[in-house]
Amino acid sequence: MTAPAPVDLPMPARRGPLVVVEDLVKHFPVASGLRGKRRVHSVDGVSLEIARGEVLGLVGESGCGKSTLARTLLGLTPADSGRVLFDGTDIARTKGRERKALRRSMQLVFQDPLSAFDPKMRLGTSLEAPLAQHGLGTREERGQRIAEVLEQVGLDESFVHRLPRECSGGQLQRAVVARALLLQPRFLVCDEPTSALDASNRAHILNLLGELKDQLGLTLLMISHDLRVVRHICDRVAVMYLGKVIEVAPRHELFEQPAHPYTQALLASSLPDSPEARGTFSTLKGEPPSPLSPPAGCRFHTRCPKAQQRCGTQAPAWSGTTTEQHQVACHFPGP
Ligand SMILES: Nc1ncnc2c1ncn2[C@@H]1O[C@H](COP(=O)(O)OP(=O)(O)O)[C@@H](O)[C@H]1O
Ligand SMILES: [Mg+2]
Repeated sequence: MTAPAPVDLPMPARRGPLVVVEDLVKHFPVASGLRGKRRVHSVDGVSLEIARGEVLGLVGESGCGKSTLARTLLGLTPADSGRVLFDGTDIARTKGRERKALRRSMQLVFQDPLSAFDPKMRLGTSLEAPLAQHGLGTREERGQRIAEVLEQVGLDESFVHRLPRECSGGQLQRAVVARALLLQPRFLVCDEPTSALDASNRAHILNLLGELKDQLGLTLLMISHDLRVVRHICDRVAVMYLGKVIEVAPRHELFEQPAHPYTQALLASSLPDSPEARGTFSTLKGEPPSPLSPPAGCRFHTRCPKAQQRCGTQAPAWSGTTTEQHQVACHFPGP
């Protein structure tokens, strides 16, 4: 028998990105004494695209808005403006059944495994809750599904009888991943999934997420303040500073040719022994300015070794570097 002739398509099928974030803004009003109401500029105009099957890393110092971006992107917190498209659908405009289906498709992996589960509940009970909430399966089928996801994360079925305190940190974090997988999502947002773990457990969880991604065809947003976490697993990396994304690049380019002085400083600070960063760039000094009143112009100018006058007045536009895939928002990018 001969192989079927290839189908002659006029054009390759178009496959748009799975997730598109357009100019997303999220400010939190806070009372601040005499000055009355002020707003925390947690996420301040972020645009991103995440391709199907891609792992996008999101890095930046603590407090720069990563978790707020994650929650807003997932629709867990309403955005002030901007929008998020999941597979072409604006998540804020969905209702009823469509919204429920979307909720299943997008799951969050929490950072602190201890607070992720009710301490008084056996893992089996905690894992059954999302299935029950979505009215999925009989009791028995739910039990099977729970056993299946536990196996996928490398835990045996007997874990359903354990209380959170009867598990190690690494085991509990696996259970957190299992819970995120229960509803067969297509997109996982992992918010600092390894920050509560030691180095060996961190490597295990990252490997596990990488394997699951391939096996299940997942798309991942991997959030961390630690560049070491995104160093191996991500296809591309976005760098965030004070509510804004300031550089996006394929992983190798970001680590080998960081173009934004903030990215360079972050690399030098968090990977001091890496050949790329060693001695080349100045490390990060001082604290980031308050997100209650972010600096005018480029937000990094108050800490930037390269800052010139216009950095303090004019917000930098995006520009490509050596490749179009590598974008940076800086007036003076490059080494
Ligand atoms: N619910 C909230 N109310 C007020 N401020 C908030 C709230 N959530 C986050 N923030 C503020 O938004 C900023 C970004 O926080 P977050 O998104 O948690 O950053 P990251 O995850 O990068 O550490 C911080 O200044 C934080 O204090
Ligand atoms: Mg966070």
